Amino acid sequence: MASSVVDPRIPHFQNDLLQAGKALLKVSHCNETASFLTRAKQLLLQHTLCDNWFQIQAFEEKHLTSLNPIKQFSVWFEEAMKCPSIGEVNAMCLATCTRDGRPSARMLLLKGFSQEGFRFFTNHESRKGRELDSNPFASMVFYWEPLNRQVRIEGPVEKLPEEESEKYFYTRPKSSQIGAVVSHQSTVIADREYLRKKNAELEEMYREAKVPKPAYWGGYILKPKVIEFWQGQTNRLHDRIVFRYLQDSSAPLKPMTHRGEDNWIYERLSP
Ligand SMILES: Cc1cc2nc3c(=O)[nH]c(=O)nc-3n(C[C@H](O)[C@H](O)[C@H](O)COP(=O)(O)O)c2cc1C
Repeated sequence: MASSVVDPRIPHFQNDLLQAGKALLKVSHCNETASFLTRAKQLLLQHTLCDNWFQIQAFEEKHLTSLNPIKQFSVWFEEAMKCPSIGEVNAMCLATCTRDGRPSARMLLLKGFSQEGFRFFTNHESRKGRELDSNPFASMVFYWEPLNRQVRIEGPVEKLPEEESEKYFYTRPKSSQIGAVVSHQSTVIADREYLRKKNAELEEMYREAKVPKPAYWGGYILKPKVIEFWQGQTNRLHDRIVFRYLQDSSAPLKPMTHRGEDNWIYERLSP
């Protein structure tokens, strides 16, 4: 049995919560009190480190780990991955637009990023796929609520080479490969039964065989031209640092604009 769960690193109310949990477990005669409390303490500590981050730090220019925003994104992404209360760090909202400027947005999963850009996979004939065909620019937004952080990324989008899409397709579980064949994403269907039946047929058909990647399924890469880091503050004086990619790195800069690395410049925006 753990003698005391009071830990100076855990804020007062959370220690109270642990004491309450301990009392509750005593009454319910739980045999696993000690391990439960140890785990509870670990979780509270992780959450405390995570949730208090934004209260103790303003996001100043001096806190940028890199003046290349993709490296900076990588630092924030890693920090979000360490945060146990963020379920899907790579979930983001992707906005696309028709040729005549009507926007649409939906959640997607980011499947990789590098200095070249940000990758995602989907159906090329879906609504977003058709919009990207006619207007190859998009914007993606990440929101990591426990860290009070948002990242906005904008730029032109290109299809990934077929070999890359093919390679990624076969890293997915077979059920997802079949799902991609079953679903002509964004088209109207009669009912759920239609999907269920088609899925069962294809599972049977490919029981022993390799699932061919449908030509309409594949990846895109968004090549960033603008990346904004937003750090929320409890006093509403939020921090916004925006990076823009310059084609001509020798172009003169405005007084409040700073030179970053690798053709990027950066500025602070009013929240
Ligand atoms: C968290 C989350 C992650 C998703 N990830 C993907 C994804 O990686 N690729 C995809 O095609 N759809 C994904 N979807 C479904 C899309 O939001 C959307 O329904 C689908 O792509 C069709 O969008 P469209 O009709 O605008 O083209 C995801 C949905 C959620 C909620």
